[in-house]
Amino acid sequence: MTGSGVHGANFWQQLPRPIVGLAPMDGVTDHACRHIQKKYGCPAVVYTEFVAVERLRVGDWSLLKDFRYDESQRPVVAQVYGHTPALFEQMAILLCELGFDGIDLNMGCPATQIVHRGSGAGLIRTPLLAQELVRATRRGVEAWQNGANVQEIPELAPHLVEQVVGWRAQLPPAFQRRRPVPVSVKTRIGYAVPQVREWIPWLLECEPAALALHGRTLQQRYSGSADWEQIGLAAELARGSDTLLLGNGDVGSYSAALQRCAAYGLDGVLIGRGSNGNPFVFSLEQPQDRYRLLRVALEHAQLHEATGDRRPGRFLAMRKHLGWYARWVPAASALRRALVESTTAAEVAALLDAYFLQRRTWEPANVAGGGNGGKTVIDWM
Ligand SMILES: Cc1cc2nc3c(=O)[nH]c(=O)nc-3n(C[C@H](O)[C@H](O)[C@H](O)COP(=O)(O)O)c2cc1C
Repeated sequence: MTGSGVHGANFWQQLPRPIVGLAPMDGVTDHACRHIQKKYGCPAVVYTEFVAVERLRVGDWSLLKDFRYDESQRPVVAQVYGHTPALFEQMAILLCELGFDGIDLNMGCPATQIVHRGSGAGLIRTPLLAQELVRATRRGVEAWQNGANVQEIPELAPHLVEQVVGWRAQLPPAFQRRRPVPVSVKTRIGYAVPQVREWIPWLLECEPAALALHGRTLQQRYSGSADWEQIGLAAELARGSDTLLLGNGDVGSYSAALQRCAAYGLDGVLIGRGSNGNPFVFSLEQPQDRYRLLRVALEHAQLHEATGDRRPGRFLAMRKHLGWYARWVPAASALRRALVESTTAAEVAALLDAYFLQRRTWEPANVAGGGNGGKTVIDWM
């Protein structure tokens, strides 16, 4: 169910298969992005950007900013990373209090500074610690089910406790109810070389609700192509267990996602970069009106501005999305250049107005693939 619908104990098991979800992307899939992806593409599940469990100790606004979401995004999974079991346990209590549908542990990030601390994909080399993190997170969920609350998280600053209590009070009652929030893992197929046969059984042993597997090693980072044979092998290892297996890597369309699921016996697929500037990647039918993506871009920019923090430069994070939206539109290179330098949503609106005005003046509406279909500047909104 979506929207304000109620998920049972393990929402993963209730999702229709195959599951085609939005992969977490730091600096991309923030609150506004997920809202837009969900509204226009309706991915079956979305994740937050990854958040360090160590942020619990920092005590500033940065802890909660990436955990903002709205009801339209459900099921929404909070993703965290780190290497200290006690912090995962505390973080789990916080995430349950915030009403998330699931908690995901990142064991796939290849960033050097994260891997060197033994977090992200660095955990592939320390499988016992990886298991302990899953179990610690589950202990946190159980403690919360048994009545633990945000006031009892020793690391959390009092003003953040107050903020969490406020957020929780606004959740629909079903999501305030204490329930067994499922714990999942997202990882890669290996460290230096594919090692699915060695690595994946460690994870399956602690029975995560879902395992999302990016078909590259840590050392590959984003180079080469995702190895779907290795993902298929992991699906074989997971068969018969209660863990859902989701493949990930280089999927660029909904039909390709369905094809991967069928070919490799998967429960689902996560799409990451293929969704950039195109939420319709989650549907079989692409919109006939290619300018529609520019309307979505403006809505995204307005939401980004309305829901982001107010620090100067905050709009910078929106610019890459604008570039991505514009790349789908024919003959829009000048518009694209202007959009990626914009600083406010009002500026984006003005640029799009000017673009449509110009197209109406200079391009006949009946040219195949060109023109704006005879719309006036006001119509395009
Ligand atoms: C900019 C960017 C940020 C990412 N951030 C995260 C993250 O926060 N957590 C995570 O598990 N994976 C992260 N990933 C990896 C993606 O979730 C996904 O595994 C990867 O991009 C491969 O899938 P794709 O080919 O569909 O993009 C990130 C990828 C990119 C490109």
